[in-house]
Amino acid sequence: MAPRKIIIDTDPGQDDAVAILLALASPEEIEVVGITSVAGNVPLALTTKNALMICELAGKADVPVHAGCDRPMGRELVTAEYVHGATGMDGPNLPDPTMPLQEQHGVDFIIDTLRSNPPGTITLCPLGPLTNIATALEKAPDIAERVHQIVLMGGAYFEVGNVTPAAEFNIYVDPQAAEIVFKSGIDIVVMPLDVTHKALVTKERNAAFRALGNAAGTAVAQMTDFFERFDREKYGSPGAPLHDPCVTVYLIRPELFSGRHVNVEIETTSELTIGMTVADWWGVTDRKPNATFMGSVDADGFFTLLTERLARL
Ligand code: RIB
Ligand code: CA
Repeated sequence: MAPRKIIIDTDPGQDDAVAILLALASPEEIEVVGITSVAGNVPLALTTKNALMICELAGKADVPVHAGCDRPMGRELVTAEYVHGATGMDGPNLPDPTMPLQEQHGVDFIIDTLRSNPPGTITLCPLGPLTNIATALEKAPDIAERVHQIVLMGGAYFEVGNVTPAAEFNIYVDPQAAEIVFKSGIDIVVMPLDVTHKALVTKERNAAFRALGNAAGTAVAQMTDFFERFDREKYGSPGAPLHDPCVTVYLIRPELFSGRHVNVEIETTSELTIGMTVADWWGVTDRKPNATFMGSVDADGFFTLLTERLARL
C-alpha cells in the first residue's frame, strides 16, 4: 500500500518533536510532504526553529518547512513555556538548524499542496492550535473537499481541561479556528486528552528510549524527562503524556485506538469555558456527528512501535 501523504502542522513542543520523528522514521506508511509551523507552545520564531532542528535530528534536512501564522485568529496568543521551557524544546541541547526555511507562507503551502495533488490524497495532521488550517480553509474554501482526512491532537471531554478547568491548550489558544475546522465537513479524527493521558512515558519506557544509543533516542529521553514535570505536579502522572505522537501512531496502527463518532462543538464565547470541546459522547442531542473522538489506546503497543521506529533514525 502506498504511504499516506501528510502535512504536519505543529508548534514544537517536545511532544510535537516525538510525533515528527516517528513520522519521519516511518516511510512505508507516511510520506511527510511538508511541515508548517504555528504559534502555540512558544512564539512562531521558536516553533519554526524547533521544526527545522527536529528534521535535522531525524537526518531529513530535505523536508520542506514553512512558517505559518504567528497569532490566533481572534485573540491574543497564549503560550506554554511553563510546560515546554523557554525554547519550547528544553531538555536536549540540540544544535541550531542549518537547513533553509522555505519562503512560502505555511498557509499558502497548505492551499497549494491540496490544489496540486489529486482530491482525497492529502491528510492534514495538526499538532497545535488550528490557526493555519482554519486560515487556509477561510482563504481557499475549495480545498475542504480535497482534504482526505484531518487527524489532530486537541480537545478533552471526560479528562477536562489542562489550561483551564474546561479547555485543552490547542483548542483554547485558537477556539475560532477550531470552530471553523470542526464545522468544515472534513473527516476528522480527534486525539483528545482523554486518550493522550493514557500514553505516558514511564521510567521504563524512558529508559528504553535512552537504551537505543542513537541521537534521536537520547534526545527523546531528555525531552520527556523535561516536560513530564508539569503533568507529574498537576495530575500525579507517572510520566509525560505523549499527546501529539498519538496522531502519528494512529496513522501507522489505527487499531491501537478506540473511540466514537460523535458531534463535537467548540465553545467560542463564554470566558468561563472558552475552548471547550463539547463532545456529545452519549448522543443526547440531535447534532450531527462530525468527528471520531478517541478515548483509549493500547499503550504498550504504542510504545513498542515508537521505540522500534526511533531506533531507525
Ligand atoms: O494540550 C497538549 C497540546 O498542547 C500538545 O499539542 C502540546 O504540544 C501543546 O501544543
Ligand atoms: Ca503541540
